Amino acid sequence: MQLNEVDTSKNIEAEAWQCLENSILYYRGQPVGTVAAYDSSVEALNYDQCFIRDFVSSALLFLIKGRHDIVRNFLEETLKLQPKERALDAYKPGRGLIPASFKVISVNGEEHLEADFGEHAIARVTPVDSCLWWLILLRAYVISTKDFSLAYQPEFQTGIRLIMEICLANRFDMYPTLLVPDGACMIDRRMGIYGHPLEIQVLFFAALRVARELLICQGNQDIVAAIDNRLPLLCGHIRQHYWIDINRLNAIYRFKSEEYGKAAVNLFNIYADSLPYYELDKWLTKKGGYLAGNVGPSQLDTRFFSLGNLMAVVSGLSTEEQSQAIMSLIEEKWDDLVGDMPMKISYPAIQGEEYRIVTGCDPKNIPWSYHNAGSWPVLMWMLSAAALKTQKTHLAKTAVTIAATRLAEDEWPEYYDGKKGRLIGKQARKYQTWTITGFLLAKELTENPSHLPLISFDKLAPEIVSRACEFEVGSIDPSMSL
Ligand code: GLC
Repeated sequence: MQLNEVDTSKNIEAEAWQCLENSILYYRGQPVGTVAAYDSSVEALNYDQCFIRDFVSSALLFLIKGRHDIVRNFLEETLKLQPKERALDAYKPGRGLIPASFKVISVNGEEHLEADFGEHAIARVTPVDSCLWWLILLRAYVISTKDFSLAYQPEFQTGIRLIMEICLANRFDMYPTLLVPDGACMIDRRMGIYGHPLEIQVLFFAALRVARELLICQGNQDIVAAIDNRLPLLCGHIRQHYWIDINRLNAIYRFKSEEYGKAAVNLFNIYADSLPYYELDKWLTKKGGYLAGNVGPSQLDTRFFSLGNLMAVVSGLSTEEQSQAIMSLIEEKWDDLVGDMPMKISYPAIQGEEYRIVTGCDPKNIPWSYHNAGSWPVLMWMLSAAALKTQKTHLAKTAVTIAATRLAEDEWPEYYDGKKGRLIGKQARKYQTWTITGFLLAKELTENPSHLPLISFDKLAPEIVSRACEFEVGSIDPSMSL
């Protein structure tokens, strides 16, 4: 790097830290979160609120910089927003949920927090991922402070328990994965991800691991037993049934259908004709592989979803070999998946009649835009974390370098459009906080990989892995669900 390049890069970083500072939301004089975007040129809608999922990257940065107070305030205040009683009204949020976002309101001169569980959100989407991210963040706080006392407080133990209860509740479904409506996560619009989307499953896996680490066993034996039962089944299910590489594609291509009974191989009755197998034959690399977007009855969504795949690597849900294959695919298909702005939320875009039917003609999600294969700089920190975990540090560094100058020049847009990610998102906000923090966090992690344990998990214990390998659909013990 030339001297003036060093100066520019320092200036960009300083600007980013300043923007993060400006985004801090204060409640009764205390910092409690960060707003989604600080862009006064457009109507705020709900971008002036603190979103739980958006705050994660801000929070990790605050933890890295020793500013534990803001993360602690966030955890305490959002916990207070969690409903503790069963909802009597079906339009009210269920017990245990954590809201999608919250804002500070003033009533008779006194400040209060107002939560949005989706009852105000566009299309009234349910934020299933919030409670999962909340747990992941609680663990990061504990790791950073090396202090379990916050998590061991009775209010927090109840909070963790209620999240587990809502996740592990008795339900109609017979899979170890979580059945959720469309738009229940970062992709919070109709995008054909209802059912068992990868993103939710990976966050669920991480959340189960957090709860297992942080729940005090005494008094919670039923939950702990349910977690111990669910974890290996979930892990085995994803590793086996979501995995796609060229060998697996070959097997699926030649699947028999309409198999009944225990000996069935094509368990979900996937019809090969529903898959773009010629495209995949051309696209899949020899060493590469990835986890599918969704698996259900006669359904295998072969789109590549970045958040789910990257967090599968970071959380240890994918096996060592699978993690290497995911990163190898990203490296070899860099132009498609990363292009000029790390990185695409999904790939490829859905187009034509499929786009019209699946999104309901959503003009925001036209092909290669927004959630439909748009590029989201926030994903850069997950790309960096996954790259570091798989010893592919060069990928993390390249991603940060690609993004550095453009992000600042373009005023930190929420997302980019286009096959290469060169167009600033059609409706993108500027000064989007998780764009800024995605960049800063990727940089911090790359420069100091010792921060990785804040978010990553060790290998699964051998006894869980061996149970995960034995797993077959139908082997779930219903008595273990709550
Ligand atoms: C959009 C995104 C969502 C994000 C929110 C605030 O709705 O789809 O994931 O949390 O904006 O940034």
